[in-house]
Formats: sequence, C-alpha cells, structure tokens
Amino acid sequence: MALRIDYTNMMGEVVSGGVAADAWAAAERAFRDARAVFERRRASGELGFLALPTDEQLHEQSTTFARDAEGRFDDVVILGIGGSALGPIALRTALLPPSWNMLGMDERVGLPRLHVLDNVDPRTIGHLLDRLELRRALFIVTSKSGGTAETMAQYLVVRDRLNRVLGDAAPRHLVFVTDPQKGALRTIARAGAIPTVDIPAAVGGRFSVLTPVGILPAALVGIDTAALLAGAGEMARRCTGERLSDDPAGVFAMLQYLAHTRHGRHVQVLMPYSDALRDVAAWFVQLWAESLGKHRTAKDEGVGPTPVAALGATDQHSQVQLFMEGPPDKTVTFIAVNERDAGGDVTIPHLHGDVKELGYLGGHSLGDLLDIEQRATAGALAVRGRPNMTIHLDRVDAWHLGALFMLLEIATVYAGALYDVNPLDQPGVELGKQFTYAQLGRADAEQARQEWNMLPEPEPRFCV
Ligand code: PA5
Repeated sequence: MALRIDYTNMMGEVVSGGVAADAWAAAERAFRDARAVFERRRASGELGFLALPTDEQLHEQSTTFARDAEGRFDDVVILGIGGSALGPIALRTALLPPSWNMLGMDERVGLPRLHVLDNVDPRTIGHLLDRLELRRALFIVTSKSGGTAETMAQYLVVRDRLNRVLGDAAPRHLVFVTDPQKGALRTIARAGAIPTVDIPAAVGGRFSVLTPVGILPAALVGIDTAALLAGAGEMARRCTGERLSDDPAGVFAMLQYLAHTRHGRHVQVLMPYSDALRDVAAWFVQLWAESLGKHRTAKDEGVGPTPVAALGATDQHSQVQLFMEGPPDKTVTFIAVNERDAGGDVTIPHLHGDVKELGYLGGHSLGDLLDIEQRATAGALAVRGRPNMTIHLDRVDAWHLGALFMLLEIATVYAGALYDVNPLDQPGVELGKQFTYAQLGRADAEQARQEWNMLPEPEPRFCV
C-alpha cells in the first residue's frame, strides 16, 4: 500500500515555469521554520486531527452507535455544512459503489442510503423529506460549533417533521455530532436525551473528516473505518519533517508555496483522474481556501492561493484549455490511481476496426484510457511550461483515502506557516454571518444590525 508524489514536472529544470533550482535548494531552511511552527501548534494542542488515528475511544463511539443502529434505518441523512458535510460527501463518493442511493436493499446488503444536505436550498430539502419514510430514517446533525445557522435551520425543519410524525419517538431518529462540551446542540441533546458523539475540541470543521463527522456515517454504511484511520496514521508517521524531501506533506506545501510566491502560480488545481475521488477535490478546495486565504496582519495584506477542483478526463474538455494556454498562473496536481478494483475495468471492444477514429481504441480498457490521458495531459502541460505534479495512489480504498486526507491536512498546516497565517481560523466569514443574524432578528446581533443599517445605500443599477 503506497501513496507517492511525483513532482518532476514542478521543477524549473524540467518545466520552464517550474520552481527554480536555487529556490528549491534553499527551501530546506524555510521548511525547518515551518516545521517548528507546526510543532509549536502541535505542542499547544491545536492540531487535534493528528491524534485521531490512535484515538480508539473516539473511534468506538461511532462503531458502537453504528452497531446498535444495525437494521433500524433505510436512510441516513447528514444535516451539516462546510467541513461538517464535505468530508462525508468525499467518503461516500470514494468508498461506496457508484449510485449507492439508487441500489436496492439486497445490493446494499441491508445497509442504509446516505444523504448529505450541505445547503439550505428548500427545493432539495423539501424533496428529500417528502420521499423519506421517517420511521426508517436517521438524521445525523453535525456541527462543531453546535450553532451554525444553516445546520440549525435544517435541524428545526427536520425536528418539527419528526415530532409531528413520530411524537415521543423522535429522539431515536436523531444523533448529534458536536463539541464535547459547548454549543446549542450539546444543550439540546442533554435536555432531550438525544445520543451524541464527539468532535474533539481541538479539531476544527475542515480538519474533522476523520472524527465522527466522517467516521460515524462511514461506519453506518459499512465502510472500513479502522482502515481509514490506519492509512491516516501511517501518513502522519511519514510526515515527521526530518528532511523536506522525505516528508510528502512538506513537499506538496512547499512546492505550491514556491510556485505561487516565486513564480506567480496562485491558482492551484486538484484534478483526480477518478470519479471516486472527484469530491476529494471539493473537500480540498474548502480546506486550502478557508485555511490559507487570509488577511496577513504583519503587512496588512490579503494572501493565499486559489484552489480549483477539476476532474480528469472530463475537464480535458472544459478547463484544460485554460490550464494549457491561459494565464501562466496555475499549478495542477493530478491524482492517479495505479490499480482498479478486481473486475472493475472495462475492455473496449474491437468494433469498427476500419474506422481510424475508433479502431485504435479496441483492446485497450477504459481504465487504460483514463491513465494514458492523465499522463498525456501532465506531459502536455509540462511541454507548455505549466508546472504539475501527480499524487499516485495504489488504489481507491479506505486506507489510501485516510492517507490522502492526512497528507493534505498536514500540508495545509505547513502552508499556513509558510504564508505566515493561522490556517486554523476563519475570521473572514464572521461579518457575513453577523449581517445574516442581524437581518433575521437574532437577539445578540445588535451591533451588526446597527452596522448593517448604517451602510450607505448606493444608487441601484439593474439591467432588465
Ligand atoms: O472549517 C470550518 O470550521 C468551517 O468551514 C465549518 O466546517 C463550517 O462553517 C460549519 O461549522 P460547524 O461545524 O460549526 O457547523
């Protein structure tokens, strides 16, 4: 089992727009400093995600709940947003068979369907709730803070339906995933005898996929959660930062940072060549954007890369034109999968052998086509001076996914140190939240209400 990073095409000696040799040679020292910041954060208890692979008690909270729930539910619905939803979505897409929710009970071997809301669009929520058999549904309400407006609104809508349909049995169809001590969800759970599992205090939303945020739903749908944690643990051990070139998270973070700050590559694309991994790219976008896009007080400036999610080969017919010939402001990180599931590949038949546009395809497999297209795109970008790297996974399974999550989470903390920002907070979303509270009449939003009311009213301009 292995995950390796091929960064040949990130280097200036190979790709004209790549990282210059002198910058890479000097990076060891910058990495030592970043590593020291990382160690300080770890020592002060801020990097709770590092301890998750060995936290057996926490793991057991999820597996015990899942065991007790066996056979009771046909549908599991996660209410949450941001870091409380993107991890479970990535897990579902990667590790459950495609179209899981469309499969019959037999094909799902009695395991429930898994829905993740991740928004408050009434169309989606109304449609789902109307279709569910509430007596056979479990709602996981996930919120680290226990008070996020969107998630609380989802909960209130669901709770009202449950109360009306199931009466006193409603709490048996709920489980809260939240901070061990704080927040409104914790208070409601205590008062209403609703089961809860913990998100450790030292793990923030976008770093929480390997807490019960991801592990509980994964356990409920039969994903091998021990393997997820084992892969993550192995990656955490590999990223010990003795030497930059031995530390995959260090290599990833440093190359992206240098490509940005030395060579203007501020747009950083993650492009798996695997449908199973497409939502890992969406998960990464949140992690990288919310962690690194910050106001750097020292120089009173906004910094940070712009992550973009893409999918191979699909985006070869969409975004790749831009990556090849558009502004030279991007890096592309591919994710390639070395082995497919046994029996999971499809051979292209030898039909229309006399038609030159089709004949050459016969005898290859669809998996071969995908892999060859990935290598071809990486090579083509390199020829055009566009730096890129490839993360190779042996296969898409729980172990490798756990390792990939951990790799990118550690890289994010290193990158925070390199950009000299705090990767663990998100003060930039606060003002919008306060203005929302103000307009919805939240009692403690008086100051925001005043600020909102004082905003100048520009002359409206519409195009109708
Ligand atoms: O990374 C973060 O902290 C955020 O993106 C949160 O995940 C998101 O805002 C949801 O917050 P909560 O889990 O507190 O409901």
